[in-house]
Amino acid sequence: MKPRIALVALSLVLSLLIGFTLRRGAGSGASQASGRPIIGLSMDTLEVERWQHDRDLFVARAKELGAEVLVVSANGNDTRQIRDCEALISNKISALVIIPHDGAAMAKAVNLAHEAKIPVLAYDRLILNSDLDLYLTFDNVRVGELQAGYLVDKLKGRKAKIVRLLGSKTDNNAFLFKQGQDNVLNPAIARGDIEIVHEDWCDGWRPENAKKVLNAAITKSGRDIDAVLCSADILSAGAIQVLLEEGLAGKVLVTGQDADLSSCQRIVEGTQSMTIYKPIKNLANAAAELAVKLARREVVVAKEELNNGKINVPAIFLPVHVVDKDTMESTVIADGFHTRESIYKQ
Ligand code: BGC
Repeated sequence: MKPRIALVALSLVLSLLIGFTLRRGAGSGASQASGRPIIGLSMDTLEVERWQHDRDLFVARAKELGAEVLVVSANGNDTRQIRDCEALISNKISALVIIPHDGAAMAKAVNLAHEAKIPVLAYDRLILNSDLDLYLTFDNVRVGELQAGYLVDKLKGRKAKIVRLLGSKTDNNAFLFKQGQDNVLNPAIARGDIEIVHEDWCDGWRPENAKKVLNAAITKSGRDIDAVLCSADILSAGAIQVLLEEGLAGKVLVTGQDADLSSCQRIVEGTQSMTIYKPIKNLANAAAELAVKLARREVVVAKEELNNGKINVPAIFLPVHVVDKDTMESTVIADGFHTRESIYKQ
């Protein structure tokens, strides 16, 4: 599967890179544009495992391409993320890559960068209501469809009760995951196959908020739950703690996303049912390559687009994969994302 995932992703990136020319290609903010460009990478947080992979892979690829990367992380604080971007802009970066904590708040950073003639690429999460230059992400609606589809399939034939833990309301992705889940759940609810006994948003994607939501669900509707639909592994980590305390771990289906090492371990142990593997290397590599092009004021093209409330942003969506006990070997391990030893604790 390793070569297959890599090849599919590579050919997808290549096929997507046709046909959609960006508006912002030339600018003067880039004093380094023709030599060794400096790219600013402003991150929401580095506290969550997935984002550490993103940073390492992005920086490594950009370096291979002859660029320097300045990385800053805002620890989930919007004021700090704006300040981070201001600092990067005054450090003479030639392109700015942002993983926003709050997709609405970071429109200001796009404006500031554009005033300095610096193009902006949104990485993984969309920046709303701005003249964003490029958006590179995974197929987030598909993530939600696969999560919900897994449950609907496994729960076939029961009148199943599901608790839904949604992501952070400040992250546009959380709504896209929900949209994908709704696409699959709504027909099943209409058929009477599924009942959502409780659902809520988990602020800041924090596991402690996931625990609160699941505890509230149990207080409200009891322990008779068939599945917890978690939008990401960071939430399933919190949910599974609650299930362990309730003696329900392993008896209730739990979804996730990101193929975090601890989630992969829980999947083979049996307390988590599935996760979504998003080959971060493909995203980080493509983003680094495009950021270097933007920094060098080369033409960048993207075939898709996504409306951010102000414009249709040129966009690229990368494919995602379901991982459970049976496919752990052929996905995450075959792709070298985690070792077999680390997952099975050998
Ligand atoms: C990302 C997920 C991640 C979540 C929490 C989302 O925007 O797409 O991969 O689990 O943020 O960090």
